[in-house]
Order: sequence, then C-alpha cells, then structure tokens
Amino acid sequence: SIKKVAVIVGSLRAESKTRQLAKAIIAEAPENLRFEFVEIGDLAMYNEDLETETPPAAWTRFRNQIREVDAVLFVTPEYNRSMPGALKNAIDVGSRPYGQAAFAGKPAAIVTASPGGIGGFGANHHLRQSLVFMNMPVLQQPEAYIGDLWNLFDDAGNVKSEDTRKFLGTIAKAFADLI
Ligand code: FNR
Repeated sequence: SIKKVAVIVGSLRAESKTRQLAKAIIAEAPENLRFEFVEIGDLAMYNEDLETETPPAAWTRFRNQIREVDAVLFVTPEYNRSMPGALKNAIDVGSRPYGQAAFAGKPAAIVTASPGGIGGFGANHHLRQSLVFMNMPVLQQPEAYIGDLWNLFDDAGNVKSEDTRKFLGTIAKAFADLI
C-alpha cells in the first residue's frame, strides 16, 4: 500500500549536497513510497514560552506535516561531529507539546553524509539517540554513512558510481520493508 514519507534535510543551504543525496535516494525508492520534503529552516528556536494556544505558525505547519506522514527519512550532514543545530531544533519542535510529539512512533531512517571518509557517523548516532527517545523505530541495517559527498554527483546531479546508486536503492527498499 501507499506510504507517505516526510524527508527532512539537515542542511539549509540552497546548494546542499545532502539535499541532492535525498533526491537520489527518492529516485531509487520503491513505487509505494510517496516522499514530501518538510522544511525546517523557518522554525523559531524552540522556547517553551512560545508553547501557548497559538505557537509560531511554522511550528504548527511543521507538526501537521509530520503528523500526516507514515514515516520520516532524515538525510543530513554532520556538523562538529553531531547533527546540525537546525535539525536538532526541528526534533525539539516536533517532540512537543509533551505527550503529543508529532514524531512519536513513526518509523525513521537516517542517512548521513560527509565530504570525508567517516560519513557523518557522529551525526548519525546523535540523531539516532534522539529518535529512540521519541519511540521511533529506526532502520538499523543497512547503515548509511556516505563518504566523499562532494564527488558523488555529476553535473546533471546523477550519482556517478553505480555501486553507490544501487546502495541507495537498497537503503530505500529496507526502509520500505520497515515501514
Ligand atoms: C561541517 N562539515 C563537517 N563534516 C564532517 O564530516 N564532520 C563534521 O564534524 C563537520 N563539521 C562541520 C561544521 C559546520 C558548521 C559546517 C558548515 C560544515 C562539512 C560538511 O560535511 C559539508 O560542508 C557538507 O557539504 C554539508 O552538507 P550540505 O550543506 O552540502 O548538504
């Protein structure tokens, strides 16, 4: 059956390579997954004082978008051996109000990437730690630490390596199975 998947990209920049990577995963995914990019760049920094009957409109938009999907795909770079602050903020916004976390219980997959060889391992596992707390079943295997991020794509945005392209398909298929 058709499953809706929110895609959250940890980088906010227009030319983001991890956003490109997210698109490459989507291109290899099974037909029954419907992907929707959910943006996080306009979310005010989480502040409990704003958690009133009328929270910031972007928070409400974000929470509603997450509530409507069956699962969440996170594709993110690593910042200082952890997840980018914008992504952590989105996690925090989606985790509240207390007891009403939009993310709660939704299956998730994490793909991290880096221009270096460690493939965003630190970001991957810090993010994983937060998702465990929100009771999200997170895809365990295969793990996805994508290295050499700046050389992955040709000028047309296609994945250059056939092996990498196939691996992205394997990840998407495993995620579909988990969902
Ligand atoms: C980085 N980068 C980085 N890379 C990495 O592998 N480990 C790290 O700890 C960091 N730290 C870090 C901090 C900050 C503030 C920035 C801006 C960048 C490099 C990062 O992986 C690279 O810029 C990616 O291309 C960012 O992803 P997007 O924006 O291309 O999607």
